Amino acid sequence: MEEQGGRRRRLVLVPYPLQGHITPTLQLGTILHSRGFSITIAHSHFNSPDTSNHPDFVFLPLSDDSLSKYNHSDDIVAFISNLNLSCKVPLQELLIEMIEKQEKCEELPCIIYDPIMYSAEAVARHLKLPSIMLRTTSVTFALSFYVYPKIQKEGYTPFQDSKSLELVPEFHPFRFKDLTVFNLKSVDDFLQFVTTITNLQTSGMIWNSIDCLEQSSLAQLRQKSQVPFFLIGPMHKLFPFPSSSLLEEDRSCISWLDKQTENSVLYVSFGSMATVEEKEVAEMTWGLANSKQPFLWVIRPGSVLVSESVDLLLDDFKESVGERGCIVKWAPQKEVLAHSAVGGFWTHCGWNSTLESVSEGVPMICRPFSADQKLNGRYVSHVWRVGVELENGFERREIERAIKLLMEEKEGEEIRQRAAELKQELQLSIQKGGSSYNSLNELVELIMSV
Ligand code: UDX
Repeated sequence: MEEQGGRRRRLVLVPYPLQGHITPTLQLGTILHSRGFSITIAHSHFNSPDTSNHPDFVFLPLSDDSLSKYNHSDDIVAFISNLNLSCKVPLQELLIEMIEKQEKCEELPCIIYDPIMYSAEAVARHLKLPSIMLRTTSVTFALSFYVYPKIQKEGYTPFQDSKSLELVPEFHPFRFKDLTVFNLKSVDDFLQFVTTITNLQTSGMIWNSIDCLEQSSLAQLRQKSQVPFFLIGPMHKLFPFPSSSLLEEDRSCISWLDKQTENSVLYVSFGSMATVEEKEVAEMTWGLANSKQPFLWVIRPGSVLVSESVDLLLDDFKESVGERGCIVKWAPQKEVLAHSAVGGFWTHCGWNSTLESVSEGVPMICRPFSADQKLNGRYVSHVWRVGVELENGFERREIERAIKLLMEEKEGEEIRQRAAELKQELQLSIQKGGSSYNSLNELVELIMSV
């Protein structure tokens, strides 16, 4: 990709420090560095990225001492609020120092922030610096933020279980149970957070998405927001990026995949945050065993709750399946999904995992947990129709049926075919003249003009 930034304007990227957000932020940094911009990553100490993989970037840690009291898995809204509180002043001081040091003729830095780090926007506004938002989730998820005030006004909240399967008015094909707020403890806090995000000021919005994936949501969101959108995904296919994993990748699974036949392996992974109970793990082992399909399963440390005897359960399971299964703590996922042996992905439908799977034409079994995942899962199974939904969570017979359908049965042939076609569409979008290719050029122009 040609250099276009020329003047080496400095871009300060502020990621939200969880794996699914750090990765696209670093990817965007690499893409814009290749266009001639200088990149600074202003990051919290918490989940600090591995700086050695990005020798061309400047990394500036923001002190976040008060954050240690909060755990993102206990109360995400309190965690986000305190993260913003603790990072705001350090970020402001850092930017003032940067501006003071720069030459008179140099352009002011431009801030690119994840909207969950909303204090970065306040700092940029205060210092009169240009700012652009990087949305690391889907356009549809952003659109859902406009749905909440409406359904609240129309009296649907607090949500009733009896309505869970009903379609949300003017937000099809989503059901009430697919909404992020549906089973949250603190609905009001979340709605306050949604209001904060939707009111942020920005010169533009960058999305790790693709025009052809979310056309209808995109058209609706464009009517609600006046700023330019730049859909430049799937970003991970634009470059051979260095790893941005916070956990060490176990590459032994690639050698194991090399020994398997084409499209035979089911890859199982629920991202960096989701947790399961021991009884759910037991159902998973039965479903996988009975499907008779080879599988690669990521069991992240800490991802099984109350796991007194899970080690024993998994030892027995490994012995019974032998070479047919491979279990690792963390995999090089993008490489796994691109491997010719992988024919299906049982996923929690995090946006990155969803994009990574769609980009490789790998059909999915969807078992979303929280946040945006249920909307993504519904898109996979009901809009793109490149996967199946596990309606009953973790139930061994349903799991076995879904694996067989997706991986081998004639009934799954159309799903596999559509997944292959969608992969082609995404490939076209990043080629010269494609929608993401053009959008990236427009983004570079905007950054140079703000
Ligand atoms: C979180 C939210 O849960 C998700 O819904 C939101 O869209 C982004 O932030 P996470 O749950 O981690 O992210 O899911 P996902 O978005 O799929 O990101 C996980 C990333 O970790 C992916 O890029 C994936 O490739 C990587 N990964 C996962 C690995 O590299 N190895 C693994 O073993 C598992």
